[in-house]
Amino acid sequence: MPTIIDGKKTSQDIKNEIAARVAEIKSEGGKIPHLAAILVGNDGASQTYVGAKVKACHEIGFESTLVRMEDTVSEEELLAKVEEINENPDIDGLIVQLPLPKHISVEKVTDKIKPEKDVDGFTPANVGRMALNWPAYVAATPYGIVELLKRYQIETSGKHCVVIGRSHIVGSPMSILMARNGYPGNATVTLTHSRTQNLKEIAQTADILIVALGKPEFVTADMVKPGAVVIDVGIHRVEDSSKKSGFRLIGDVKFDEVAEKASAITPVPGGVGPMTIASLLYNTLLAAERKVYG
Ligand code: GUN
Repeated sequence: MPTIIDGKKTSQDIKNEIAARVAEIKSEGGKIPHLAAILVGNDGASQTYVGAKVKACHEIGFESTLVRMEDTVSEEELLAKVEEINENPDIDGLIVQLPLPKHISVEKVTDKIKPEKDVDGFTPANVGRMALNWPAYVAATPYGIVELLKRYQIETSGKHCVVIGRSHIVGSPMSILMARNGYPGNATVTLTHSRTQNLKEIAQTADILIVALGKPEFVTADMVKPGAVVIDVGIHRVEDSSKKSGFRLIGDVKFDEVAEKASAITPVPGGVGPMTIASLLYNTLLAAERKVYG
């Protein structure tokens, strides 16, 4: 049986470590980390995600502010709110939950966030700093994967890492992080996407396979090299009448059959997903302690 990479436990370990640091900061009379989240509209999934982020802040002793805006809010009003939080010295980190309504430019809003407070790591400044291997806020999902590889002591140097999917928030940064000079890193990276030819053959050569294309159970056992490390970023709801909720969650990887070949694998749920909140909290701690921009 492969090692099951337990994101739920690892995320709880990280939260405990951050909570211990917050307790220290409190006892030293220092600044309590404060995260602000802007939520526009009433999208169910976004409300759940933001709710989970706010709850996690309370659990570990952070302060948090949730700003809710109607989905009819103008771009100008949203930009003004971002600016107000940028200038508020009590707030260390700011996230604007995505997606935004169609009449608002994600680029304009992202670009408005002060890089020093961009704990999502979405601004051009932080993406650039990450690519340069400078201190940076790294986006939650890639950072969560890096932390799992580290804590499970997965060897990456000289390995062939194949990333499936080139999104700005997962595949693309993951390819940069795995290739950079450091640990985890120093891998030979192949970034694949919808136009890639011979994807199956390429995937079969991966020592580390990172799957983030957003297609349920896309990766099957015949695409995986025996002994590979498989990281599944996908999350999809499928109907399941045997569950009380009426659904269950599956990933981009056909877990049962791939697990039989892999040396280590992340499950869905309980793998990469729970790590994203831990990453956001960690970035917020870095922001409060001025560890990235000095
Ligand atoms: N929507 C889905 N994931 C994220 C995230 O990591 N940050 C923000 N701000 N919005 C999201």
